[in-house]
Amino acid sequence: MSAPNKPYDPVAVAALGADEVARMQADALAAIAAATTLDALREVKVAHSGDRSPLALANREIKALPPAARADAGRRVGAARAAVAEALSVRGHELEADRDARVLLEEAVDVALPWDRAPRGARHPLTTIQERIGEVFVAMGWEVAEGPEVEPEWYNFDALNMGPDHPARSMMDTFFVAPPGSGRVLRTHTSPVQVRAMLHRELPLYVVCPGRVFRTDELDATHSPVFHQVEGLAVDERLSMADLKGTLDHFASTMFGEGLRTRWRPSYFPFTEPSAELDIQCFVCRGESVVPGAPPCRTCASEGWIEWGGCGMVNPRVLVACGIDPERYRGFAFGMGLERALMFRHNVADMRDMFEGDVRFTLAFGTEI
Ligand code: PHE
Repeated sequence: MSAPNKPYDPVAVAALGADEVARMQADALAAIAAATTLDALREVKVAHSGDRSPLALANREIKALPPAARADAGRRVGAARAAVAEALSVRGHELEADRDARVLLEEAVDVALPWDRAPRGARHPLTTIQERIGEVFVAMGWEVAEGPEVEPEWYNFDALNMGPDHPARSMMDTFFVAPPGSGRVLRTHTSPVQVRAMLHRELPLYVVCPGRVFRTDELDATHSPVFHQVEGLAVDERLSMADLKGTLDHFASTMFGEGLRTRWRPSYFPFTEPSAELDIQCFVCRGESVVPGAPPCRTCASEGWIEWGGCGMVNPRVLVACGIDPERYRGFAFGMGLERALMFRHNVADMRDMFEGDVRFTLAFGTEI
């Protein structure tokens, strides 16, 4: 670039002559007219009106001219630059309008298209039953608790009165987590969530724990190595088996039908004493099919009752393991499998249908939100 005190340069003056400036302007206008996209126009703008464009360079040369020539050259270059700026702006608006019109066409939504061709999804019945059970208990003032699916053996067994040598421990068909001796298992029931609740929550305690559990069962029509349970636990002063019975009867009638009752058969669980198997009155025949001469019932095989789960009063040894004074507090607990409940509730013949993820199975339960 020439400095003002440099001697007069005839070449530079020639570059600012009317012809040269008109040519620069014409080049710029032609390039602007030829730009067909906004990206192309951006490049043209850099080339013809940016800092290094011929007109910008010419503008810088003006001050090197003899004073008499400056005003003329300044007007010429200024007019050319203004014309280029104006053309850039006009072309910019044209191209933006083109783009907007194209986007409107390309992204148009045809509101007249049939609306019912996209298949609806449906929530899985295992999800909705877990939520509904949660609601039944929350309405009674209970809390819903969840816990990890991989548990230290202590939570899954020891705290529940199943020490290392307890026979029930080996009967539980457990998946052990590698490496051998890691001390961790895939939980075989949701009872470890109750252990966590006893250790960490305030007393009195009323929690219901739905969740996925794991056992080394074969996959067939009535078994799966992964299934779902819901377990409940109450720990309070002066609880008795009458409270357990009342809770289960209420649970049974809200889930399966008004007035359905439960019954117990003596049983054994290490973590409850006394313990019972829990049956629910058949919700189809309501027990009528056992009467001689009555029509047979397929749902309960005319037994009048359906096996539902297990229950009992929390073994004081479990309370002690969880730091609770068994002289002051007592607990009751119950647990049942959710797939089984869905199977007998909805006449599902094959448990595997629940795990295959075919939406046609799920849709039959309705599209509950
Ligand atoms: N945890 C037991 C099981 O999975 C079920 C159960 C819970 C039984 C609570 C009694 C009391 O087999």
